Amino acid sequence: MKLDSKTLEAVIAIDGPAASGKSTVGWILANSLGYLMIDTGCMYRAVTLAALKRRVSIEDEVAISRVAQEIEIEILPPGAADDGRMYTVNVDGVDVTWELRSPDVDTNVSLVSSYKEVRSEMVRQQRAFAESGRVVMVGRDIGTVVTPDAPLKLFITASAEERARRRWEDRQAQGHTNAYEIILEDVLRRDKIDSSRQISPLRPADDAIVIDTTDRTPEEIVQHILALRVS
Ligand code: DC
Repeated sequence: MKLDSKTLEAVIAIDGPAASGKSTVGWILANSLGYLMIDTGCMYRAVTLAALKRRVSIEDEVAISRVAQEIEIEILPPGAADDGRMYTVNVDGVDVTWELRSPDVDTNVSLVSSYKEVRSEMVRQQRAFAESGRVVMVGRDIGTVVTPDAPLKLFITASAEERARRRWEDRQAQGHTNAYEIILEDVLRRDKIDSSRQISPLRPADDAIVIDTTDRTPEEIVQHILALRVS
């Protein structure tokens, strides 16, 4: 399927590894442009959470693919919720926004997102979101697979240690107590799975602009991106 070029003028594609700051940057950018942010990672997380709740084995590719096709995922603006969320995710009508961030989902989501049928179902739904236009879409394969014709593609990265430190801070704020070393290990493990999987591995699109966020604030990065966009 090809998206029409008019629609794609309003899609900004942001990819990058886990905890690189891409969602925060995408969110500030979307707010400053009046666009909707779609964090596609939360869709793979939604499939993982639904599978865990249904006690489906994460190794069972056929059953997990069925879960991906059966559940209804909604991504909505945060609305009245005043708890620091960037968006609300409902699965089959139930708000699971914070459950998607649990360590159990963190551990299992890379395997779920490596399954072919899961990816094709998520990509189909993501393209439908993109068609509505005025979207900042954040993920791993947005510039390479989901909307390869997007006029602005960004690849946001940071050192593994910095990404682990940020994730550790987020998890502390959410009341989880994982040690930094365990989180760093998980970040490295997920980097490996995400970049080496056969289908849609994590990599910058050939024409993506690569931005390292290690020593920069999200606001600085957004100013940099907005300057790119008008030039
Ligand atoms: O960005 P995140 O940590 O919420 O992503 C969760 C997982 O989903 C991660 O292992 C990579 C995968 N993912 C993907 O394969 N493709 C996307 N477009 C977004 C996320």
